[in-house]
Amino acid sequence: MTDTNAEQSGPALSALLQERRQFAPPPELAAAANAQPGIYEEAAADPLAWWERQAEHLQWERPWDQVLQWDLPYAKWFVGGKLNASVNCVDRHVTAGNGDRVAFHWIGEPENDTRTITYAELQRMVCQAANALVELGVKAGDRVAIYMPMVPEAVVAMLACARLGAPHSVIFGGFSAEALASRILDADARVVITADGGYRRGTASALKPSVDLALEQCPDVRAVLVVRRTGQDVLWREERDHWWHELVERQPDTHQAEAFDAEQPLYIMYTSGTTAKPKGILHTTGGYLVHTSATHRLVFDVKPETDVFWTAADIGWVTGHSYIVYGPLANGVTSVMYEGTPDAGGQDRWWRIVEQYKVTILYTAPTTIRTLMKWGEELPAAHDLSSLRLLGSVGEPINPEAWMWYRTNIGRDRCPIVDTWWQTETGGILISPLPGITATKPGAAMRPLPGISADVVDNEGASVANGEGGYLVITAPWPGMLRGIWGDPERYQDTYWSRFAGSYFAGDGAKRDDDGDLWLLGRVDDVMNVSGHRISTAEIEHALVGHPRVAEAAVVGASDPTTGQAVVAFVTVKGEIAGEDGEALVAELREHVATTISPIAKPRQILLTPDLPKTRSGKIMRRLLRDVAEHRDLGDVTTLLDSSVVQMIDDKMRTAPGGAGDE
Ligand code: PRX
Repeated sequence: MTDTNAEQSGPALSALLQERRQFAPPPELAAAANAQPGIYEEAAADPLAWWERQAEHLQWERPWDQVLQWDLPYAKWFVGGKLNASVNCVDRHVTAGNGDRVAFHWIGEPENDTRTITYAELQRMVCQAANALVELGVKAGDRVAIYMPMVPEAVVAMLACARLGAPHSVIFGGFSAEALASRILDADARVVITADGGYRRGTASALKPSVDLALEQCPDVRAVLVVRRTGQDVLWREERDHWWHELVERQPDTHQAEAFDAEQPLYIMYTSGTTAKPKGILHTTGGYLVHTSATHRLVFDVKPETDVFWTAADIGWVTGHSYIVYGPLANGVTSVMYEGTPDAGGQDRWWRIVEQYKVTILYTAPTTIRTLMKWGEELPAAHDLSSLRLLGSVGEPINPEAWMWYRTNIGRDRCPIVDTWWQTETGGILISPLPGITATKPGAAMRPLPGISADVVDNEGASVANGEGGYLVITAPWPGMLRGIWGDPERYQDTYWSRFAGSYFAGDGAKRDDDGDLWLLGRVDDVMNVSGHRISTAEIEHALVGHPRVAEAAVVGASDPTTGQAVVAFVTVKGEIAGEDGEALVAELREHVATTISPIAKPRQILLTPDLPKTRSGKIMRRLLRDVAEHRDLGDVTTLLDSSVVQMIDDKMRTAPGGAGDE
């Protein structure tokens, strides 16, 4: 395998593999775990029958006629079945007598700004919101854009859309007006749900102005529903804008839900690919809900009566969709939902939340774990974390050091860690240990879940032997899989199904260790993973060349001790630049990326250079630029058109400000 981000985890990984450290499941957890020995064999014997048994945990208005219809690469699951996602996530728990159970302990970023929402209250809120959307003319099949902070109304909005069979497209609140507009246009959403703003890093940030700006490009949007969160002033367009507290709260709090086909679109979620245009990943109802609820039950071993589950992610990403909203609610579990950043109100904020709400399961990303590590182990040590019984990790490869820190300082050596591998496209977890059954190793996602067939293959698609690395593929359809890319069937086929015949190509490198266990190593394409956020190099290059001073740009992901990878850009400019002007231009370009895409895409470093290294055929040598960005020796550069260019860039880089550790 060449030219992969994966190579970067080499030394740490091999040191660990030699050490072969592993942890057995704690016996008391194993005895009572949802997943018991034999589950892998049972699922392998008849995967479809196994998924059917998982589907029986849900409430279907009409049973399915056929579990799977597979017309590669198009899958239909639970064909002929009918259900309503919102009824499954809310109403049926109330009907079962659990209306008083807390659905969400919501914690705002400002101290003491909290709400407790039971399943019965959630039902009333969702019904009112569904009635309001009906009043705004939303019908089954219409797309609704949601651009909100982490407030309960965001979840309510999603469930209200699901209740009406209107696919939602949630756009992360950190995205710029430009990014918002392109997503609204691509999905052709006619209604937008937003808020005046939200709290982030101690201050009220605004959302509505971005919507106003975005909608200048989206003339077909006829209604905007606005939650008042911060009370800040907003511009108002009477004929288009509606306050949530006026329109929603005057609605009846009951709503008769219709059952939809299992394949009714549930949502679109935009994610970065290898081109500048984000992909609208489409998920449908039945299979997705089966997948997220089953994996939530088995991987997190949840017990609805006793657990307090906390996915510390934003609902603007797939992790929030599957493990804040659909999985936990389908299972009738109590969750914590926290609005802010881990250090709002002090760097021990998370540990105060765990202590106060007696959180039993915590699910977060390695980048946050590394940040918490930097803040020191004294902070968690000063709090009672004894309620925790299980820890999860998601979003990027977890380095063994962070894994061990998490286990020792947060899990106090009692809690198993589930390192869960999955993607926006997979809908839910595909590779993870099962607590109670699977041993864990620091840094390994271990094995495919029951009902999932995965493999690691070489360039030709042949399985690699134990001890070897290659590409991760999924070799059979699974219920939560994407059903396509919105409006672009060709790209769906090309991106996922053309590299290895008959298999889904995930875009990740993986290794099978000597025991046959799986280690996920990161992307093998031009997609970066910065703080667990998936960002495309092409999208940032596109933004940079959109600036009037930029002639050419090349972006690479360089390894970073905290964020996993960081964005490094090499830019050639039009006209002359000198001294101070260069610094000002770099600052301007970083800001330009933040406002065109999002602050999460802002380059850590931009190097202005008179030229970029190219092959004789004119292709930019990104691999070489990555070596430069990571201060590696360059080796043989003789295939280059002009090797002095790269030498010059390399010299510049070694003396430039803004590298790793500078900020
Ligand atoms: O590279 C893999 C990495 O995140 C990518 C998917 O990103 P996204 O669609 O934004 O979804 C993130 C949350 C599910 C994957 O292609 N990734 C995700 N989980 C892991 C991981 N890499 C290593 N280990 C993981 N546990």
